[in-house]
Amino acid sequence: MHDGNIFGNSFKIVSFGESHGKCMGCVIDGCPAGVKISKQDIQKELDQRRPQNSIGSTKRAEPDQCEILSGVFNGYTTGAPICLIVWNKDVDSSYYESIKDTPRPGHADFTAFIKYGGFNDYRGGGRFSGRSTISIVLAGAIAKKILLTQLNIQILSYIKSVANISSKLPPPTDLSTIHRDPLTKCIDPSIIEDIKNAISDAQHQGDSLGGIIESIALNLPPGLGEPFFDTLEGDLSKILFAIPAVKAVEFGSGFMSSTLTGSKHNDPFIIKKGKILTSSNNSGGINGGISNGMPIIFRTTIKPTPSISISQKTVNIKTLQPTSIKIRGRHDTIIALRAVPVIESATAIVILDHAIRSHIIPPIIK
Ligand SMILES: Cc1cc2nc3c(=O)[nH]c(=O)nc-3n(C[C@H](O)[C@H](O)[C@H](O)COP(=O)(O)O)c2cc1C
Repeated sequence: MHDGNIFGNSFKIVSFGESHGKCMGCVIDGCPAGVKISKQDIQKELDQRRPQNSIGSTKRAEPDQCEILSGVFNGYTTGAPICLIVWNKDVDSSYYESIKDTPRPGHADFTAFIKYGGFNDYRGGGRFSGRSTISIVLAGAIAKKILLTQLNIQILSYIKSVANISSKLPPPTDLSTIHRDPLTKCIDPSIIEDIKNAISDAQHQGDSLGGIIESIALNLPPGLGEPFFDTLEGDLSKILFAIPAVKAVEFGSGFMSSTLTGSKHNDPFIIKKGKILTSSNNSGGINGGISNGMPIIFRTTIKPTPSISISQKTVNIKTLQPTSIKIRGRHDTIIALRAVPVIESATAIVILDHAIRSHIIPPIIK
C-alpha cells in the first residue's frame, strides 16, 4: 500500500496533486468550526510561495489561485472536511518524455520509478515536485490564522544562510519590528546583496545553491507535545522532512550542543513577570518533547536544487548503459528561498494539531 499522504492527529491533512496534473491541493479533517476564513487569507500565504516572489526561481508562470471547494459556509469553517485546490495552468511536459529513462541525479526519479513500478507521473517530478508543498501552504494558512487569532502565536521563518553567506543576527524576540526582504526572505540587510550576487553567479554557471532557514514561533503555551512518540520536535521534524530537498533539522543549540558542557548548555530557570521562563534558550523551547513556554527555535537545511544544466553522469534504466544528462526546463536556482513560507506553514500545522489535541483550541470557536 502507498499510504503516506496523510499527516496529523487532530488537525489532519491529506495532500494530493502532481506537478503536471490538473491541480495541487489538500483536504483538512478536524478543523474547528467557526473559524472566519476567506480566500484572501489563504491567497496571501500562497503568494509568498509563488516563484515570482523570490529571486533565482523557476520561470514557470503559475498564477497559483486557490479555490475553497468545501467546508466553509458564510465565511466560516463548518467543521466538515475542507478541500482546497490550486489549478496547474502553465504545464509544459514535453522535455520530461526525453529524460524519463535517465533519472536526474539528486532527484527522486529513480526511487519513484522503483517504488511505483514505473506507473508514477514523472512529468515535472510528479508528486516529488516542489509544487507538492502547495498542500502544506493551503492548510498552513488556516492553521496560522487560528493560532494567531486564538492564542497570539506568531511564526516567522527567514533565510539564515545561502551557501557560505551567513547572518550573524540572533533570532528575533519581537516580530513587530522585523522586516523580511520579500525577494531574498532575509531579515538581515547586511547579507542581501551578497546573496543576490551568489544566486546570480550560480544561475550563470548553470549550477544551484543550498541554504539554511531559521524559524521561530512565539507565545506558545508550555505543555504542547505528546511524548513518547508524538513529541513536538518529532512531529515538526516529520513534516519538515516531507518538504522536498530538506536534508537536516536542528532545534535550539542543535549540532553545536555536543561541543558545550552541561553547565554552559543548561537553560537556567527564572521568573519574569510572574512566569517561569529560562534565561537562555539552548533547548529551542522544547524539553522532553513538550513546549516549555520559551520561543520555539529551529533551523532547516535545504540542499542545492538537483536539476542543473551542467552535465552529470546518469544511467539509462531501460538499457542499463551509462550516459550523461544536462537538464533543461524551468528550475529554481535555489530552493531555500521558496521553502521559507512552506516551513512557516508546516510549523503552524504541527502547533495547531497539538493545541487541538491538548484542548487549548476548542472544537467550536465563537
Ligand atoms: C519549493 C521547492 C521548489 C523546488 N524546485 C525544484 C526545481 O526547480 N528543480 C528540482 O530539481 N528540484 C526542485 N525541488 C526539490 C525536489 O523536489 C527534491 O529534491 C526531490 O523531490 C527529491 O527529494 P529530496 O531532495 O528530498 O531527496 C524543489 C523543492 C521545493 C520545496
